[in-house]
Amino acid sequence: MCLVVFPFKKENPQVVLNNVKIAAQHPKVDEVLCVGVEKEETYRSLEQNIPQLKMETNKDINLILQERIGNKRPGKGDGMNTALKYFLEETDHNEILFFDSDITTFGPNWISKLLEGAELGYPVVRHYFPRCSTDGMITWMITKTGFALLWPTSELPWIEQPLGGELLFKREVVERFLQQEEVRNRSDWGIDTMYTFYSVKYCYPMLETYISEGKLHKLYGKLTDLKTMLVECFDTIQSLRDHSLELIPKVNEMEGSFLCKGGIIHRAEHPHEVPQDVFEKIGFDIEGSLTLLMENWTPGMEDLLSVFPRRIRDGVYANKKAPSFSFLDEHTWREAYLILLDHFDINNEDWQEILFKLWVGRVLCYTTTIALRGYYFAMRYLYSMIDRYMNYSAKHKIKKAKKEEKNENSSCA
Ligand code: DGY
Repeated sequence: MCLVVFPFKKENPQVVLNNVKIAAQHPKVDEVLCVGVEKEETYRSLEQNIPQLKMETNKDINLILQERIGNKRPGKGDGMNTALKYFLEETDHNEILFFDSDITTFGPNWISKLLEGAELGYPVVRHYFPRCSTDGMITWMITKTGFALLWPTSELPWIEQPLGGELLFKREVVERFLQQEEVRNRSDWGIDTMYTFYSVKYCYPMLETYISEGKLHKLYGKLTDLKTMLVECFDTIQSLRDHSLELIPKVNEMEGSFLCKGGIIHRAEHPHEVPQDVFEKIGFDIEGSLTLLMENWTPGMEDLLSVFPRRIRDGVYANKKAPSFSFLDEHTWREAYLILLDHFDINNEDWQEILFKLWVGRVLCYTTTIALRGYYFAMRYLYSMIDRYMNYSAKHKIKKAKKEEKNENSSCA
């Protein structure tokens, strides 16, 4: 018994309706819920067409507006949390499944595969997709990088697409999520990171299934399209940084190694096929994004940049005259990222612009030095970049733990 949810904003109503119909026709789906942000055109079109769809499919299909649950910008998080609340309070279904509403490649197998995972016993099942080498730039440069630097021996950096919106939770998971204030408050784009983080923190066995046809949806233009998402995803990682996940350093017992206390079962289906268009597609408008580095400079940004070492500061400043990004290789990005974790303030627009410029620079550096060399080269690079971040951070933490232990021993003596 399951509930399928489509959170939506302004979308092509035909695409959403088609997806709702596919879900409602699925034999294992009991109910479909569409959660809108406001009563705009897409909402009205669904409102008009749902009665007919209900008759055709003989299924319960509901349309609601998202509630104000969190305390961040009202966005996707409020939509998804509204659905979780509805699932617990209004239904007795066992599983809730989420899908982005704008997908044009959606099909019944997307539902079946999630449900098969649940039948195998996984309380969390997620889809992942082949993506072109310049897509997923928040995933790789912000989320996976942050997971690798902050929780290097946890399962988090190994999750294929931690921002993915196609997933299944069993009831017990939803109950615990909604008890968690941090999850309820995350009303913005940070919600995906929150769900991923808490799935791992609560040690839920997780299965990632591979959908080879890929997720075709609206393409991004300039990287500005992703600015709000970027800022909110980074803010979420920053807000979680003091959580310790599983690291129990046993420096004396196992020289230099870490024991995972809360390691989780996490399995991912082998990514068998990559469709041709994924090799050929370009994820964003490269030329349009170059000029972003030169725009929107304020005197306040110059003051804030003083927290970075000279090399980074000068590299960013150079953009006032002409695009400059080749300095943002993976090492410089790691250095900048760790400084941002200490100083970034989402409530300050100058900080938002600094984070944005550094990220655009990092994405352009990667695009022009790595992605240019072809899909397989780029994918190998991205995975190994995360490995290097994990190794760097784990070693650093071991060193710190040893030092602390030494200090403790000497103060006891
Ligand atoms: C990401 O980085 O995963 C965002 O969806 C943008 O592609």
